Amino acid sequence: MQRFWKILGLGLCGGLGTTTGWAEIRETSVWWLPRNVSNFGHEIDFIFYVILWLTGITAVLVFGTMIYFIVKYRHRAGVGAIHSHGNNTLEVVWTTIPVFIFLALAIYGNEMWARMRMETPPADALQVAVVGEQFGWNLRYPGPDGKLAKMDATKVNKDNPFGIDPNDPDGKDDFTTYNDMVIPVGKAVRLHLSSKDVIHSFYVPEFRLYQDMVPGRVYDFVWFKTDATGQFQLACNQLCGQGHYKMFGKLGVVPTEEYETWAKGKAPAPAVTATPSSTPQNVAVVNR
Ligand code: CUA
Repeated sequence: MQRFWKILGLGLCGGLGTTTGWAEIRETSVWWLPRNVSNFGHEIDFIFYVILWLTGITAVLVFGTMIYFIVKYRHRAGVGAIHSHGNNTLEVVWTTIPVFIFLALAIYGNEMWARMRMETPPADALQVAVVGEQFGWNLRYPGPDGKLAKMDATKVNKDNPFGIDPNDPDGKDDFTTYNDMVIPVGKAVRLHLSSKDVIHSFYVPEFRLYQDMVPGRVYDFVWFKTDATGQFQLACNQLCGQGHYKMFGKLGVVPTEEYETWAKGKAPAPAVTATPSSTPQNVAVVNR
């Protein structure tokens, strides 16, 4: 028996050690919500707390009454049972109140969802294409023109994860990364989500953002704005195969200047048009 407790103790310590390690990756405590850095996240957290308080208070009231009745009307020698046929007024009251609470939550939640997913993103939003694959993230950023190449899900294949037309002028200055996402803080970001093979899911707990990515489709209605910098994990939230557990990318929310420096460093090398007058200085100008 002593051996059992020893093993259990070791197991618990090991488990706690693991959760602490995980907490560091997640940046915040594992015991409560991770911190939130997105505009819509604040509203989602607000409705979460409203529901938590409502259900918490209801649970205390219901269980409190139940325990009180169990004790008060317990079996006692010589005391007869009371036969009750209910109380219509009480029943109408405790049915009507929850109906209104549920209706209010449904209407508010629906309205919030519509604003998050159906409202048009700001026109100056940074466009980022994200294509999931077994097991990693392909990212595509617009170059200085601010325009992404047009994505066509039917053109997606092994060598063309974004399904773009190589002659699309908007795509000439785009740059791509793998498992490395950086966005400027405070700027609206509009995602173009798709998948190369199976269903993946774009999931960032600190953004309270979760959207499936389905092969053959491009979802371009997801957008958000961050209000604090930090290093996060871009995790996949759909069981997409044996490597699902390791499908995560780095996600940095950084000051605008830092983002610009990073983007410049990633810009594609200019197409070498071997004109005799092409000097290194010209190349530098093209490359900006
Ligand atoms: Cu991709 Cu799980």
